[in-house]
Parts: sequence; structure tokens; C-alpha cells
Amino acid sequence: MARITRSVDFSLKGYLLQAYLIGRNASGTDSPIKGELIKFNKGLGSHGNRSKSGMVAAIMADSAKLTLDGNEYELPIVVGSENEKAIDIGKLRAESGYVTIDGGYKNTGACYSSITYLDGEQGILRYRGYAIEDLAEKAEFLEVAYLIIYGTLPTPTEYDTFKKDIRRHSIIHEDMRHFFDGFPSSGHPMSILSSMVCSLSAYYPDSLDADPTDDLQITRLLSKIRTIVAFGYKKSIGHPAMYPRNDLSYCGNFMHMMFANPAEPYEPDPEIVKAINTLLILHADHEQNCSTSTVRLVGSSNANLYAAVSAGILALWGPLHGGANQAVIEMLQEIQDSGGDYKGFMEKVKDKSSGVRLMGFGHRVYKNYDPRAKVLKAMADKLLPHLKVEDPLLDIAKNLEAIALEDPYFVQRNLYPNVDFYSGIVYRALGIPVNMFTVMFALGRLPGWIGQWREMMQDPGRKIGRPRQIYTGENARAFVSLADR
Ligand code: ACO
Repeated sequence: MARITRSVDFSLKGYLLQAYLIGRNASGTDSPIKGELIKFNKGLGSHGNRSKSGMVAAIMADSAKLTLDGNEYELPIVVGSENEKAIDIGKLRAESGYVTIDGGYKNTGACYSSITYLDGEQGILRYRGYAIEDLAEKAEFLEVAYLIIYGTLPTPTEYDTFKKDIRRHSIIHEDMRHFFDGFPSSGHPMSILSSMVCSLSAYYPDSLDADPTDDLQITRLLSKIRTIVAFGYKKSIGHPAMYPRNDLSYCGNFMHMMFANPAEPYEPDPEIVKAINTLLILHADHEQNCSTSTVRLVGSSNANLYAAVSAGILALWGPLHGGANQAVIEMLQEIQDSGGDYKGFMEKVKDKSSGVRLMGFGHRVYKNYDPRAKVLKAMADKLLPHLKVEDPLLDIAKNLEAIALEDPYFVQRNLYPNVDFYSGIVYRALGIPVNMFTVMFALGRLPGWIGQWREMMQDPGRKIGRPRQIYTGENARAFVSLADR
């Protein structure tokens, strides 16, 4: 049995902010400023974080005092560029023998990151400082991928080169195409995707170096993942694989591989291509969520990028994470099939003994409307009439949302629609099968996984991820031989 007998006195002193802006000189370009970098590393010990693109801003503040067993420990306070505060406990165990415990990591900052800023109370999401709403409306997915991975929006020349590299790698090794014959056609596309992404490391042994500056592995993965997804889909419906058409855009080429067939000409509908582009941008990163943390943890052992991303895909699959988009449609369908009684369904959700949750609602971080859900709801309203799709599930979803936004059960718990609530309705209208919704999420999240892996691998203070535990099992006891048990 665990015994906690010590009393803990914890107090924070007033913050005394000292800002060290790292890696940006006065003109705003990227070259690191050596003196400041040293100060930064001094201030943050081994946790200092700088990316190649030099976008890191970190603030060292005053310290907190922790009293344990009559001893006082001084713990540095760090403040992020948006004023998020943390207590650095990096030396706590070495100095006091104590660890911290935080199930579900609700209070644990696992890293410094300059990629995504998210304010769940205000419903704000930004990649590298750019508002998600602006990026969703104005950018191309590959521009956003470049931004997330390399830290800045690409110049026209950088963007041309990046796109050219990605185009060049669109075909997968022909042997890999035969892998699809080995999977049952009913196999879940997330298991196939994860296996195929991991298999890339068998075909590209140079990836085993796990070198974050090796851009070839990055462009390969960004390019081939579309082909893998589309080939898997074609196999599942008994159609021949459609090879990529590199004259098309990233999203257009994906639509071609998914929906063209060799017997007919096919030109992707620009509205659909635009919608896919926006969907992928909305999913591109979301800081230290379950799948991204998985990518970082696996990558922290120096496993290669394909292995780390493959693990991230599996983490995303769960219905409490990316799998929720499939679960939302299944829930809406069930409501419709049982006569459309959405009010009765909401009563079940509120009855804890039923074990029913309103899928697509609630979020560990958002305690306000998920900004991505807002964009998707507006997109559904515009896109469905364009595609001449009338989806009764959209009406059910809106009715559920209207109840939830008024009902004290949801209001008191700050439960709002998350990204998955409307994305499934849009995917359905685009002709994406339900069991591929989470695959679409993975396609979008890929730049985030790559960018976070790259950032971690370039952190000079990086350590293998290895949490502690509080042991609650038996104390030492003598072995009892089999005959005596
Ligand atoms: N329906 C009904 N009640 C809910 C829901 C929901 N969707 N979500 C949370 N609650 C309730 C919980 O029962 C709990 O109530 P209590 O305080 O009376 O015990 C309270 O709200 C807090 O919920 P937790 O589960 O403690 O919140 P947590 O942060 O651990 O979980 C999660 C977040 C997993 C997303 C949860 O809200 C959920 O299960 N939502 C449905 C699944 C979903 O949509 N997942 C996708 C998330 S977005 C993404 O990953 C891309």
C-alpha cells in the first residue's frame, strides 16, 4: 500500500520576468544570437529548446519554493511566449528523492515547443503564430506543412523546391504495392496505414539513422503516405491501384488516386480539392496530444521517423482520440436508425450509468468551442449544397449541438464540439468511407508529427522519455516453490 505522510508546503514568489529571445536577430531573420543562446541554456539547464529555424522564445522567471521534510527546495519557474507558466522539477528527484505524479499528464509539460500555441479557455489555435482560421482560408496544405516542420512560411523558391521534392517521391516501391494483397480487404485502414508506414523503414535503410536534418525521409513520407492511403482504399473495394499523377496538386493527386479509375477520364472537382486542403490544414498539428506525445516518446529512443510516426498512427486510432470522427458518424447513424430521437439520446448521455458519451464533444484542452469545429461547421453548410448532398445526419448533429450548448450538464463541464463533430459529415459528403475518416486525420496530422519529432531530435538537451511511477505492489517476499503453493 502506498503511504503519503509528508506535508508539502508550496508557494510561488512573484514573477520576475527576464526574456531571452533565442535565434532571431534584430532584423527578424533566423541566425542564432550566440550570447543570448548561452544565457538561455544557463537559465533552463538541459531543457533549453531551439529549432533550426530559430523560432524559440523562452522566458526564465523567478523560482518557486517547495518545503519537504523540513527542507526547502528552489524550483525554477519558466514562462512561455504566451505567458504559460511552469515549474521546472527537472532536479527535484535528485535533490529531494521525490517525484511528481500526474495521471493522464493533465498538469505535465513534457517539452518546450515553438510549433503550436493553443489556448483551450479562449478557443485559440495557432501554428507558429499564425491563426488557424487564416491558414485554413488562405494557405495550401503543403505551405502549412513546411511552416510546421521548418518554422517559417516558405518563400516562393523554397515552396517550389519543396513541392518538386514531394512530387518526385509519390510512387511507392513496387514490392510494397504487393503488400496490399496480403491484407484482408475488410482490414481496418488504420492498421494497414500503420504497417505500411513502418515498412518504409525496411525500404529506406538510410532512415535508420533517425537524422532530423535528413529532409529526404521527410519528403518521402509526406509524399508516399497519400499513395499508401489511396492504394489501400482501392484494394478494399477491388479496384486497380491508380498510380499518382504528379501534374496535380498534393490534394488533387490524392483525390485522383482515390477516385479515378483507368476506364474513365477524371479531373478532381476544385471545390472538393479545396475542402480536402482545408481539412488537412485543420488537423496539421495540435501540440502534445496523445498521438504526438507517442511520436515523441518513440522517437526519443532514436527509433527512426517511420517507426515513430507509425506508432503515432496507432495512438490516433483510438476512439477517444482521432477515432472519434468515425465514432461520431456511427453515433449519428444509430440515432437516425432508431427513429431520430436525439432528445432521448441526450438523456442517455447525461445518465452516467448508461456509459454513453456524446462523441465529438469535450476535449482535454478546449474548454470552449474548438476553433476547428467552427470552420468545419461552416464548411459543411457550404459544401453539402455544392455537392447536392442532403445529409440527415447533419441536422441531427446540429440538433444535438443546440441542446448541448444550453443544457447545464454540458455547460457546467465546458463540453463543446471538437474537431471530430463535423469533420465526419464533411468526409462523408466527399465520398470518403467511414472507416477511412481517421486515416484522413492521420494524413493531415503528419506534418505535426514530423515537425514535433524534428524539433525534439534537434533539442541539444534531449533525453529518452522515461517516466517514473509510484509502486503500489507487494513488498519483498520469499519465493514459494510450486509444490508448496
Ligand atoms: N459526453 C458526455 N460526458 C462527457 C463527455 C462527452 N463527450 N466528455 C466528457 N464528459 C464528462 C465526463 O463524464 C466527466 O464528467 P464528471 O466530471 O461528472 O465525471 C467530465 O465531462 C470531464 O470528462 P473527462 O473524461 O474527465 O475529460 P478528459 O479531459 O479526460 O477527456 C475526452 C477528454 C476524452 C475528449 C472526452 O471529452 C471524451 O471522451 N469525448 C468524446 C470522445 C471524443 O470526441 N474524442 C475526440 C477528442 S478530439 C481529438 O482527440 C482529436
